[in-house]
Amino acid sequence: MPHAVVLGGTGVVGRGVASRLLDDGWQVTITGRDAAHMPAALASRGAAFAVSNRDSRRDVQALLGTGTDLLVDCACFTREQARLLVPYLGDVTCTVMISSKAVYVDEQGRHSNSIDEPDFGAPIRETQPTVAAGGGDPLSREGYGANKIAAENELLDTGAPVSVLRAGKVHGPGAARPREWVYLKRILDEREAVVLARRGETVDQTTAAANLAALVATVAASPGTRVLNAADPDAPSSLEIARAVAAHAGWRWEEVLVDGDSPGANPWSVAHPVVLDTSAARELGWQPAGTFAETVTDALDWLRDAADGGADADRVPGPDDPFFSRFLDYAAEDAFLLRRQLGL
Ligand SMILES: NC(=O)c1ccc[n+]([C@@H]2O[C@H](COP(=O)([O-])OP(=O)(O)OC[C@H]3O[C@@H](n4cnc5c(N)ncnc54)[C@H](OP(=O)(O)O)[C@@H]3O)[C@@H](O)[C@H]2O)c1
Repeated sequence: MPHAVVLGGTGVVGRGVASRLLDDGWQVTITGRDAAHMPAALASRGAAFAVSNRDSRRDVQALLGTGTDLLVDCACFTREQARLLVPYLGDVTCTVMISSKAVYVDEQGRHSNSIDEPDFGAPIRETQPTVAAGGGDPLSREGYGANKIAAENELLDTGAPVSVLRAGKVHGPGAARPREWVYLKRILDEREAVVLARRGETVDQTTAAANLAALVATVAASPGTRVLNAADPDAPSSLEIARAVAAHAGWRWEEVLVDGDSPGANPWSVAHPVVLDTSAARELGWQPAGTFAETVTDALDWLRDAADGGADADRVPGPDDPFFSRFLDYAAEDAFLLRRQLGL
C-alpha cells in the first residue's frame, strides 16, 4: 500500500486530502502539533497521526528521513519552512505544496489581500504574474503572498517532482474560518431576508477541499514539477452561495440585492471577479468531485453538527469573532430593511 504523509493535516485542506487518499487505498499519516485536533472519523478509517512541528528540523527528519511515496504539505508558509523539506525531496515520489490564489497580481500589482482590490479582467491562468518573493510576517496582508511565492520557488527550483497547487477560498469540514457560516448562521437565527451587497453578483473563487483533494490524487498519479490552480469547476457568485446554503438547509428567504458595498457585505463581496482558470488541471486529468453547490454540503453538515455541540464545536465562530461579526451585522441590515419598508 503506498504511503502518504499530510503535513498540517488536521485542518480543512488536510482533512479533505486525507479522506480522498484513504478512499483511493493509500496508507495515510497526518501530522500536526496537537493530537486532539485529529478528526476521529479519519482515525477510525485507519489514518495515523504523528505529532510533528513543521518548523522543527528534527521532526521533519524523523518523518521523512526514510522517504515516502506522497508528501502533501498543508503547512508551508515561508521559504525557511520549504528549505526544511529540500533534503528529502529526492526520496519522495511526489510532493504537493498547497499555495494560494493570493500570490497573483493584476496589471497594477494588486493582489487578493491588497487594500485596493485587484482587477484581473479574466480568469487567472498559472502564467499570471505574481507578487515578488519576500519575507516578513507570513500572516500579514503583504507578507502572505510574498512568503508563499518564496516557499514555492524554494521547492520548484530543486527540479524535484513538486506540484504547487494554488487554491481559492477553501470550503469543507474542519475549516478554521468556515465562511459559509455567514449564511448558515442567518438561517439558524430564522432570518426572513438575506441582504447581499453589490447585488450578490460578486465572485471570489471557491475551492472545495474535495476538489483540491481530487487534484492531489491526479498529480500523485503523474508526478512532475509544476504549478496548478486548484478550484471548484464553477465560480459561484455570493448570491449563488447564499442560495446553495439556503437550499441545503431547506430555508426560504427574501433576497434583497443592494447596489453598494453595505449592508450585506460578505466574504465573497470583492470589487472585481476573481476566478481561477482550471484548464491546466483538467488537461492533466483532474476530475472534480462536484460543483460548489454539490460539495459545500459537506461543510454545511459539519458546521451544523459543530453548532449543535458536535466534535468541532470550538470551530464555530463566536459572536465576538472580528472576521464574522462584520458580516453578521443584523442591526445595520434591519435598519436598511425598515427604511426600505417605509420608502425612505
Ligand atoms: N483555508 C483557505 O481558505 C485556504 C485558501 C488558500 C490556500 N490555503 C492554504 O492551504 C493550506 C492549509 O490551510 P488550511 O486552511 O487547511 O489550514 P488550517 O485549517 O488552519 O489547518 C492548519 C493545519 O496545520 C497544522 N499546523 C499549523 N502550524 C503547524 C506547525 N507549526 N507544525 C505542524 N502543524 C501545524 C494545524 O494543526 P495544529 O494547530 O494542531 O498544529 C492544522 O492541522 C495552507 O498552506 C494555506 O495557506 C488555504
